[in-house]
Amino acid sequence: SKGGYPHFMIKEIYEQPQAVRDTYEGNVEDPALGRVSSAILSANKVIVVAAGTSYHAGLVFSSLLARRAGILAHTIISSELPYLVDSIDGGDLVIAVSQSGETYDTLEAVRKAKERGAAVVGVTNVLGSALDRESQLRLYTRAGPEIGVAATKTFLSQVMLLELLSIRAGEASGRLRPSEANELLRALREVPQVLANTLEASDPVATALSKGLSGSAYILGRGLGAAIAREGALKVKEIAYVHAEAYPAGESKHGPIALVERGFPVFIVATSDAREVAGNAVEMAARGARVYVVKPADLGLELEGRESITRIDMPPSSGVLELEPFILTPLFQLLSYRVAVSRGYNPDKPRNLAKTVTVE
Ligand code: F6R
Repeated sequence: SKGGYPHFMIKEIYEQPQAVRDTYEGNVEDPALGRVSSAILSANKVIVVAAGTSYHAGLVFSSLLARRAGILAHTIISSELPYLVDSIDGGDLVIAVSQSGETYDTLEAVRKAKERGAAVVGVTNVLGSALDRESQLRLYTRAGPEIGVAATKTFLSQVMLLELLSIRAGEASGRLRPSEANELLRALREVPQVLANTLEASDPVATALSKGLSGSAYILGRGLGAAIAREGALKVKEIAYVHAEAYPAGESKHGPIALVERGFPVFIVATSDAREVAGNAVEMAARGARVYVVKPADLGLELEGRESITRIDMPPSSGVLELEPFILTPLFQLLSYRVAVSRGYNPDKPRNLAKTVTVE
């Protein structure tokens, strides 16, 4: 049941504090996390395969694994893995991320990688799912069932789990001192509260912005922000039916900026690993774009002299990168939801989409 909410999507958005709490508590002491970290450290290559929103969680993971453990994980869209599979062999580790554990493309990627001898870690929200059964090592998010077609609480639960994994891998690699790892874990324990504050701050902004969103928009970020931007753009496309395109902000001047004219909406997702986005914001504003910079309140950015840039301040992150996906993602979930509802679309069942894509 929708528990008093008009749609599953909004119910599930508001269930995120609980989903990430359960995922944290269910995994933080789990020895499986240690086993997967060891497998990451001993692998020749680490390849993450996933589709859609789960792919974006994979991008968050690569960003943080590089930073905390000094390891490059190649995050690849499941349906593209077959074209790269010749590069995989028995020394490699494939981490497959799928909330349902039933996505055809991801299962196929896993089967092809296994044929090449790779070991497989399954990250799912569903015990006993096909991916779970195919995997040698298993990790679980604890988001509870997600009914709305849009992945919301399962996304931030995947982020939580993969952040725990990157911290463990950082510790195992010797890059993170135990005291630093513990400090990050302590910060993650506060995520449910941070997320509750974020939802409260985001919803009125989303409602206000929803009135003016139409046509097309860019959502830009660098580093961790690039991954969050992609997830934001997917939500806006699939739920609000507004064309939104995410780009790594630095790439925007290599072509996409040509489209920017007076009033063109550009969202900048600013994370503490990439203050350089300020320059991109100023560049877009100089071309007349309607620029919104979504950022943790305490992230200082050099935006002076640009009154046309709207700053959207979310709760502070104290510069802890791991907190920022939780602080910056909900605005886009809520924005897509508020646009859909105000235009009479059903956010729980967007056209042309199924919750789980079990065909090629
Ligand atoms: C987006 C969405 C889809 C799924 C994708 C993968 O809101 O729901 O993009 O994320 O189909 O699904 P799973 O994670 O079940 O493999």
